Amino acid sequence: MAEPLDSIKVIHNAFRLDMNLIDATALDSARGNKGLSPAIERFRFFNEMLVWHAHGEELAIFPMVETVAPSVAEAYERDHRGLDAAFDALNDAVSANDVLAAARASSAFKFHLDIHLEKEDAHLYRIVRESVSKPDQAKAVGIMASQVPKERFKEYISWLYPLIDNTDREIMIRIMQMVMPPEVFGQTKLLIKYVIGNDWTEMTRRIPTLE
Ligand SMILES: [Fe+2]
Repeated sequence: MAEPLDSIKVIHNAFRLDMNLIDATALDSARGNKGLSPAIERFRFFNEMLVWHAHGEELAIFPMVETVAPSVAEAYERDHRGLDAAFDALNDAVSANDVLAAARASSAFKFHLDIHLEKEDAHLYRIVRESVSKPDQAKAVGIMASQVPKERFKEYISWLYPLIDNTDREIMIRIMQMVMPPEVFGQTKLLIKYVIGNDWTEMTRRIPTLE
């Protein structure tokens, strides 16, 4: 049974997958000697999402962890500042149209991101699961979700669902169905259906109440 905290692992997976695409684009561009591929531009929306996510963690998750495991979260906050610096380096390289610097910056960004997300999944969120009550977990996830500005929600759905696999889509849809007011979920459902195309049939097979 999916529960709100599971949505964080799904978002982490989306970050991993998007970073893979960005890094592959940067490497291909560096190999191709044809300048930076326009596809590299997806790093901008990726980072907006990452900043909303990290900010939500700092607002809702880290203070909660502090109460059950003092001095643990500060290391993760330092990681977040490292992600900010990694973005700045990639942004500078892309602005300068420096293909080699972009590939190096993207590789460093990916390395740091992957280790950070693995640590959060295996360590930080294990502490949350083991030591924080389910209602408090759900409240914190709600605060995190509210970091995505309402007017950007469509872009968020259009970014997330095409990236993730059907297992993660199912988890995310079940959580949204559980926590959203029915009319909001009704609209969201139509958008998900649109952005995942033929895979929607599989979603309705897995979650018959979607029909
Ligand atoms: Fe984080």
